[in-house]
Amino acid sequence: MADFQQIQTELLARVGESTEPRSVLRAPELRELYSGIRDANDKAAYGAQVNELKAQLEAAISARESQLAEVDLEPIDVTAPMDTNAPVPSLLPTEQGTIHPLSRETARIIDIFARMGFVAEQSREIDDQYHMFETLNFPKGHPARDDYDTFMTVETDADGEPLIAPAHTSTMQNRVLKKYHDKLEAGEAIAAIVPDRVFRNEDLDARHEHTFYQLEGVYVAKGVHAGMLIATLQEFLQAYYGQDLDVRVNPFYFPFTEPSFEFALSCPFCKGQDSNCKVCSGEGWVELLGCGMIHPNVLKAADIDPSVYTGFAFGCGIDRLIMMKHQIEDIRHLESAKLDFLEQF
Ligand code: DAH
Repeated sequence: MADFQQIQTELLARVGESTEPRSVLRAPELRELYSGIRDANDKAAYGAQVNELKAQLEAAISARESQLAEVDLEPIDVTAPMDTNAPVPSLLPTEQGTIHPLSRETARIIDIFARMGFVAEQSREIDDQYHMFETLNFPKGHPARDDYDTFMTVETDADGEPLIAPAHTSTMQNRVLKKYHDKLEAGEAIAAIVPDRVFRNEDLDARHEHTFYQLEGVYVAKGVHAGMLIATLQEFLQAYYGQDLDVRVNPFYFPFTEPSFEFALSCPFCKGQDSNCKVCSGEGWVELLGCGMIHPNVLKAADIDPSVYTGFAFGCGIDRLIMMKHQIEDIRHLESAKLDFLEQF
């Protein structure tokens, strides 16, 4: 016959010391007591004794569990000086976000031009046709207006012309030239860039988005010539791509510049050495931007006398610059909000 008293004393002592007191219910001694019921003379009295022991153990286990749940912490002295060098625990359980590649690269571009003395201005998301076309030497009915696949709104301006979502940052040229007009009288140059969003009603593919970013630049002073245009753009591109690059300048047509050029860059990836290059298709050159000497009519529309002052302007796709820098094959990735793409930057 089991010694109930002894087993009880021992199991209760174990509960009192255990950090997992409930495990005592699985003790072999207890199991033996259960199986002893078969051989007991007075099964009812034996069973009652086992139940009594179990009830005592349960009570002791609950008491021990509450004791363990009470954490013994030092009281906090809220007036104590704090360790300002202690590492600040992160509030974010997972990785932190990163700056979007379009924002980060635009900030770099602004920084490079700022060091060359250009101020940055913003464009707008709705404009009138006077600024988008008229001030840029596209009179009403000019065929080149159709090249711009411009989104029209149902709202109209004072002349009854539909307001538009600007299809190029050149829409800001007239305002920028007027805003900084005083600089010319002070013998300084107007030097401004407009990096901002533009909109075109285009069929979408790997190279075309309806909403994308352009970088407009204008520089006006006395004696500005095309060599300064080419040197400025070459300087910018070398700073942006971090290497010496050859440029190729081809004649082109824009209503707002005369002469006009298209500017190509020696491929920063393969330098013309890879006939399968994804960036230049093996040609060694990538057409990058439009530019030229500002047309006299554009200067006149901003009250600048073209017989005294000359200037250059350029317009470049920011998405295109970034795609070439990081070998991104599809422009649509940039605005896709796909984390696996964005997390690479
Ligand atoms: N606005 C032109 C476009 O979107 C780009 C451009 C070309 C801008 C020549 C200029 C320029 O300022 O001089 O196609």
